[in-house]
Amino acid sequence: MTHAIRIHEPGGPEALSFDQIDLNDPKENEVQIRFKAIGLNFIDCYHRSGLYPVPALPHTIGMEGAGVIEALGSNVTEFSVGQRVCIGAALGCYTEVGNFDQNVVVPLPDEIEFETAAAMMLKGMTAHYLLRRIYKVTEKDTILFHAAAGGVGSIATQWAKSLGTTVIGTVGSLDKAKLAKEQGCDFPILYREENFTDRVQDITNGEGVPVVYDSIGAATFEGSLDCLRPLGMMVTYGNATGPVPDFSPALLAQKGSLFITRPSLMHYVAKREDLLWAANDLFDVVKSGAVQIHVNQTYDLKDAAQAHRDLEDRKTTGSTILIP
Ligand SMILES: NC(=O)c1ccc[n+]([C@@H]2O[C@H](COP(=O)([O-])OP(=O)(O)OC[C@H]3O[C@@H](n4cnc5c(N)ncnc54)[C@H](OP(=O)(O)O)[C@@H]3O)[C@@H](O)[C@H]2O)c1
Repeated sequence: MTHAIRIHEPGGPEALSFDQIDLNDPKENEVQIRFKAIGLNFIDCYHRSGLYPVPALPHTIGMEGAGVIEALGSNVTEFSVGQRVCIGAALGCYTEVGNFDQNVVVPLPDEIEFETAAAMMLKGMTAHYLLRRIYKVTEKDTILFHAAAGGVGSIATQWAKSLGTTVIGTVGSLDKAKLAKEQGCDFPILYREENFTDRVQDITNGEGVPVVYDSIGAATFEGSLDCLRPLGMMVTYGNATGPVPDFSPALLAQKGSLFITRPSLMHYVAKREDLLWAANDLFDVVKSGAVQIHVNQTYDLKDAAQAHRDLEDRKTTGSTILIP
């Protein structure tokens, strides 16, 4: 038996049910993990609400966590019982104990605590593909990163800063602006009060930025395109305000032969070598101190619904974890 947070039907935070469920033995390619800490991510809200459907109902949600291996399937040779491990991109982490395919499991270095790992794997590997793969930021770049004080934003801002990049970040409140600044955001913009497009043009002397990382979606899409210089790269990677509306590709020509991508972490870590690349680069920047992981909210696993409410009400900053 284990306890897990499942959805029986998509819905609001009240759809999250703390269930006692049977625990099977791990299948031949699976490891059984007892979680010490679990990460909260906006994608959990999309799974809960049905925006991103889960494969079957009822289903345990949650994509990120860290813990200890308790049992091994018969084909598993890469891991051992008692080993510290973490997960950053696999559904089913809102549980005390769960079985996961060995290919999605990453060995956790001794220097990194379970809470830190649970707070960073999905968000940090996202920052990795955004900053190191889709568009490789350098010290010559000034970039725009929306929701700079949030989970992904906090990690990405510090990471970009450590590479010498100038970071313009949008935030929803004065407190978040202060936090973003402390994390290395050179120009926090209070985008509920100021027109962020005008501010970006001011800051860049009318040149625009070479890349925008936009996880806000519907509310910021057009404004973000207007922040880009010709041939700039629009990375629309989230839907906090709802999906981006349909648009004609001709819009990209009108606005300066722009590029656009709508990426998902799942594709960037689908191959084991890519998962380990992202995880190990993340471990390096965390171990070196270039990126600090701020766990600013902690809830019991059974209180996941409240954690979802707070995330969706924009009350959280940095990372949030759930403790089973
Ligand atoms: N595609 C991918 O591979 C991928 C991977 C990871 C995350 N993501 C996306 O990245 C975004 C950030 O994820 P996260 O888990 O780190 O969350 P987060 O940034 O900690 O929280 C979301 C933030 O978005 C801002 N926001 C603006 N409008 C909002 C609204 N109507 N409702 C709620 N929040 C709103 C808020 O910051 P302000 O108050 O400062 O505006 C809020 O704190 C999400 O959109 C997520 O889906 C995408």
